[in-house]
Amino acid sequence: MDTKELFEKHGQGHVFKYWDELGSKEQASLLEQAGEIDLGELDELVDTFVKGSEAKEVVDFANLKPAPYEKIPEDLSEDSSWQEAKTKGESALRDGKVAAFTVAGGQGTRLGYNGPKGTFPISPIKSKTLFQLFAEKVGAARVLYGAEIPWFIMTSHVNHDATVSFFEENAYFGLAEGSVKFFKQGRMAAVDFDGKIILEGKGTIAMSPDGHGGALRALERSGAIAEMKSKGIEILSYFQVDNPLVQVIDPYFIGFHIKSGSAMSSKMLPKAYEAEKLGHFCELDGKQIVVEYSDMPEELTALRDEEGKLKFIAGSIAIHIMDVAFIDKIASAESSVQLPFHKAVKKIACLNEGGETVKPSDANGIKFEMFVFDALPFADRALVMETTRLNDFSPVKNAEGVDSPESSRADQQKLYANWLASKGVELEVDESGVPVKNIEIAASFAYSSETFDAKWAESTPDVDIAGEIYIS
Ligand code: UD1
Repeated sequence: MDTKELFEKHGQGHVFKYWDELGSKEQASLLEQAGEIDLGELDELVDTFVKGSEAKEVVDFANLKPAPYEKIPEDLSEDSSWQEAKTKGESALRDGKVAAFTVAGGQGTRLGYNGPKGTFPISPIKSKTLFQLFAEKVGAARVLYGAEIPWFIMTSHVNHDATVSFFEENAYFGLAEGSVKFFKQGRMAAVDFDGKIILEGKGTIAMSPDGHGGALRALERSGAIAEMKSKGIEILSYFQVDNPLVQVIDPYFIGFHIKSGSAMSSKMLPKAYEAEKLGHFCELDGKQIVVEYSDMPEELTALRDEEGKLKFIAGSIAIHIMDVAFIDKIASAESSVQLPFHKAVKKIACLNEGGETVKPSDANGIKFEMFVFDALPFADRALVMETTRLNDFSPVKNAEGVDSPESSRADQQKLYANWLASKGVELEVDESGVPVKNIEIAASFAYSSETFDAKWAESTPDVDIAGEIYIS
């Protein structure tokens, strides 16, 4: 059966409505897009999410419990369990068992920025981009541990070429070219409220990235997992492209993952307030799950213990450690595991009656996405470790206000000021604790409080607190 017949059989024959008007290149491109669509999978999604009466995945909230987590001590250096974890993490790093992994396939729509999100300038003085900040941290960790620490970056069809060109133009920010590896995530067709695939142009299907959960199968399909296995890489340090404060490589986190025998571990932050837009780490039937902020009933979000502390306090900041073997187990071609899809109702560019592309003013269709944290229940063990906002989390999600470039730049400066304060260098700060004069510390100097301590002891820089401070 040819592709067109197959689409007709699945009630999607309209995808080829304009076939005869297309040139041969456009026809080839349409066939290529069509070939990426798993029609059986799409039928099921339409049955569940479009035609089904219950459009949301149902969680058994009555039996939902908060997930336990490893609490961060006041002083890490005084805590034997944390020190043991650090030693284990450092030796895995020195042994070349760890790679860094960034999911960077999403579109920065909420931020109102058109390029790949990683190319967004975000550091307070030098306006370094997100990608440059991560590259410098990877580079510094490579030097510190004397290991290759390859860096895998997942892009999507929307931003792959622009991302790769950006690294080429910037000479990979000093990293060896072959040590940064890009691969594209998969994509899914969008459907209208009748379950019909949406055409964005006469020869173009409306397709969007399949969510960061698509990372697992993309890692497998791209050959990245096979490459890691051949290099002896056992552990992936996973983070999102939107968080400039992420440590990228954290020996404590890697060590706790190893020492607890976890297959997939996560960093958590105590939620700052009930409605904070963070997923919640929970337990259900002995398995760990994340319940998205949008899916959690308000009465559970607001539940407090005897001390008045939020019961479901563990917020997900999308920083994970994953075993390569675990990804291989759940995402290989032979695996029977399928991460669930989630639906997002969106305004999707489509054709009008006259065959012209229009951007609708109201939501007109559904996109399907997988979430990486849905892999957690498939892990025999899953550890959650506490971290601090200052050291790990200040994402850039919105153009203004909470989680904006402005708030993230302020947080970066608070962290640097905090490091200096620990050495007795007190900067003048405003009422919210942000230094009045700009400050930035390059990862080549330090990318965590411990690397800062070590570098400071080795070569204390001259710091002129009267002006802007850049330490590299
Ligand atoms: C996400 C988490 C939320 C967590 C918060 C912390 C989801 C659904 N929710 O929310 O639990 O508390 O981050 O910051 O993820 N991406 C891809 N490909 C895609 C889609 C996304 O690579 O197809 C990447 C993006 O580039 C970005 C990251 O995933 O780096 C986050 O995606 P986004 O949709 O912005 O998630 P949030 O709603 O911010």
